[in-house]
Amino acid sequence: MQLRPILVVSGLVLTASLSVALMPAGSSHSDDDGESRSHIGLAIAPVKLNLEGRNPSLVGLGSYLVNAVAGCNDCHTHPNFAPGGDPYKGQPKMINAAQYLAGGRAFGPFVSRNITPEAPSGRPAGLTFEQFKEVLHHGTDFDHAHPQFGPLLQVMPWSVYQSMTDHDMRAIYEYLSSIPHAEPGPVGP
Ligand code: HEC
Repeated sequence: MQLRPILVVSGLVLTASLSVALMPAGSSHSDDDGESRSHIGLAIAPVKLNLEGRNPSLVGLGSYLVNAVAGCNDCHTHPNFAPGGDPYKGQPKMINAAQYLAGGRAFGPFVSRNITPEAPSGRPAGLTFEQFKEVLHHGTDFDHAHPQFGPLLQVMPWSVYQSMTDHDMRAIYEYLSSIPHAEPGPVGP
């Protein structure tokens, strides 16, 4: 019984030194209040954003999640990079802004969709926020694009995104609402 307080104390010391070790040294991105993520997000958005009537910090967080975390561009922009801007060829990265998130990448029989704002509603992929959340939570295909393969979106990693907070989903939705409408080029792998 004499041992117990000593164990508790050493546990506290261990926890404290672990959290120090986990903080990136000298990083200005180490705070997790959303502020710096939002700043980075606004800085890395590859297209001009329409912030009118929107909360810039929420849009910035959405951009951070779309462009620095969730990789939506990988599948929803085709091709990913502008001519001469492919980092995988050692070129300085330049996202294909003209077709940014307009879809058109084929994965076998499945093709990524246009998730830019749709006229006249201005909603991303024409979806309300409630529908957008249902897509991310359950993979619901509101367009019923391929009944032969069943009602659920394939390839799209909704089974990963479904664990995001509502706040993060809202941020992504606000960001997607603020980007310009774009049209895809020819469908291809
Ligand atoms: C691994 C590739 C991939 C990634 C990454 C990806 N998607 Fe998708 N997404 C797809 C494909 C493919 C479809 C169409 C699937 C089908 O037809 O079954 C789709 C469909 C969608 C739809 C349905 C659109 C509609 O018109 O109903 C939305 C919304 C969407 N994706 C949003 C996103 C967002 C937001 C991200 C990033 C957070 C993302 N996707 C990341 C591949 C991807």
